[in-house]
Amino acid sequence: MDDLSKTRAAEKIEDLRTQIRRHEHLYYVLDMPEISDAEYDELVANLRKLESQYPELITRDSPTMRVGGQVAPSFKEVKHITPLLSLGNVFSAEEVRDFASKVHSGLPEGTKVEYVVEPKIDGLACSLIYEKGRFVRAATRGDGTVGEDVTNNVRTIRSIPLTLQLAPGERAPELLDVRGEVYMPRRAFMRLNAERVAAGEPEFANPRNAAAGSLRQLNPQITEKRSLSFFAYAVGLGAQESHAESMEMLAKYGFRVSEGWQKAKNIEEVWQLIEKHEKVRASLAYDTDGVVIKVNTVWQQNMLGATGKDPRWAVAFKFPPEQAETTVEDIILQVGRTGVLTPTAVLTPVRLSGSTISRATLHNEDFIKEKDIRIGDRVVINKAGEIIPEVLWVVFEKRTGREKEFTMPATCPECEWPVVRREGEAASRCTNPHCPALGREGLIHFVSRDAMNIDGCGPAVINQLIAAELVKDPADLYLLQKEQLLNIERMGEKSAENLLAAIEESKKQSFDKLLFALGIRHVGAKVARILALQYGNIDTLRQASAEELSAIRDIGPKIAESVVSYFAVPSNQDLLYRLKKLGLNMEMKGIAGTDTSHPFYGKTLVFTGTMPTLDRATAQTMAQDVGAKVSGSVSKKTDYVVAGAEAGSKLTKAQELGVKVIDETEFMRLLQQ
Ligand code: IVH
Repeated sequence: MDDLSKTRAAEKIEDLRTQIRRHEHLYYVLDMPEISDAEYDELVANLRKLESQYPELITRDSPTMRVGGQVAPSFKEVKHITPLLSLGNVFSAEEVRDFASKVHSGLPEGTKVEYVVEPKIDGLACSLIYEKGRFVRAATRGDGTVGEDVTNNVRTIRSIPLTLQLAPGERAPELLDVRGEVYMPRRAFMRLNAERVAAGEPEFANPRNAAAGSLRQLNPQITEKRSLSFFAYAVGLGAQESHAESMEMLAKYGFRVSEGWQKAKNIEEVWQLIEKHEKVRASLAYDTDGVVIKVNTVWQQNMLGATGKDPRWAVAFKFPPEQAETTVEDIILQVGRTGVLTPTAVLTPVRLSGSTISRATLHNEDFIKEKDIRIGDRVVINKAGEIIPEVLWVVFEKRTGREKEFTMPATCPECEWPVVRREGEAASRCTNPHCPALGREGLIHFVSRDAMNIDGCGPAVINQLIAAELVKDPADLYLLQKEQLLNIERMGEKSAENLLAAIEESKKQSFDKLLFALGIRHVGAKVARILALQYGNIDTLRQASAEELSAIRDIGPKIAESVVSYFAVPSNQDLLYRLKKLGLNMEMKGIAGTDTSHPFYGKTLVFTGTMPTLDRATAQTMAQDVGAKVSGSVSKKTDYVVAGAEAGSKLTKAQELGVKVIDETEFMRLLQQ
């Protein structure tokens, strides 16, 4: 290799990394981007390109290395350097004053105490370790003493710097233990739940649970997709003389620190800040469940110490949850795309947390029984996790005796087929595979934005098309004629033409989108893409066995079973046959992002041993992204074995079978083509 050009490449790489880090900080931490997403993407693409030419120059803290790391069988345990404390709770102004008097009595007489007040973010606590300015490990709180190693997942959180930002000439601390809250912004939470509904998966109850579930993913690539964020709120090891100074230091190092933190000279000022936070919390991009009050000076903190797991120098003031009382006018059943009947309370409309609520989910039969909710009851509702309205309890004192108990009907309200509840399941389902609700909800899903993306075809239009008996299943959409549409109420010449054009346009939608649109249970957008890339076309996919499917990364036995059963149903086979004849796209060929002439396209690769710079998961994803299949075992069908150090039996087998063996450099060279 030409040393001069390598030196130049190294400089260029460092320069790109510095620029990218700066822009990530501007975008994710300061919320003040200076360049467009496209310009940012280009910087990253340039860096990736250089790094792939010089893989030996890749370092673990490069901005390209956020996603990677092995899919682990479980999380390792990590002992915290100093324990992660929890907080005692207070709920009133009086209790806040009590807290202050205890602080004063624990300190030398006449000591001036300053406080810091900051929002209490509803997520989960994490400790981040930096050695010589580099991020090396992250752990969850666990029991406070021992947590779980979530390093690879935390690395995907863009608001967390992988390298501390230092002023010119400034030296990084030997060891820094940053503490803070990993959380999911409200918008990301809503998007995630919408995706889960579309995939027939259960929703997360609130952003906190969603954040916890996403951080504790064994596959960092899933965590990456979840748009988690992080607020730093303390320093374990490496703290300054006061909490405020530590917060300033954290901000300077490039962290997002709890927004709106402020100093208070006395407990009256503390109370004013609490009231201020309570006013703004509804408008924040994330959930808060209170504020944290902290004694600012570190020596005072140390002197006060802790009782058990709660420090005496800090306390959480919890906001009262927003609640409202209203009447259950009716309990109706909604039949979802998967046939599950969800009981929903129809409420007398009531204002709550800035919106009007007229429905609340009752989840299932057991929920209604446990809370003894009846039609006509006065109930107290709140918004769980600030978002989904939920019935908290019945105001039994207000019962008149005229309330009606709810019973799950024996038959489906849509089709009158029997409803069953399988043993061990809370959900009741309609047993009719052709229940009109399934057809309707399935169609609504089929045309939705992330699926076939047919503009101007919302639920109302779908309902009209069904009512007019023009459409029964997705294939019927493609047979619609303009004259038929004109008979539909509120459908003019122009809108009919637009709708037909949008339907026609959707034929070009990529195969993975179509696969997602079919609404196969457990096949969300991401799984659909994996399957589409792996199998390339519908005919190969439908011949795959459950065993073969579940050998694919990210595809579990439940998904595999579901895919196989979908293709086994004759009416599904018929639908696919018709869709194909109508000209829908049933293969990945020619789709942006996959180049069929790529040397790895459609080839089967097996990775073995440890590669010098690439980590296995990253390499596998790169290969899959260009259309390769990654397999775990070597056979005659294997095209390449990518072997690293200490490759064992797979390498031997490849040599026996005469399968081509390549190393990391060759792999990267071919990948670039
Ligand atoms: S300080 C002694 N500050 O609340 C220091 N905690 O209920 C302990 N939390 O485990 C934590 N926002 O996960 C602190 N600004 C904030 C916080 C915060 C959220 C969480 C944290 C803690 C829990 C205690």
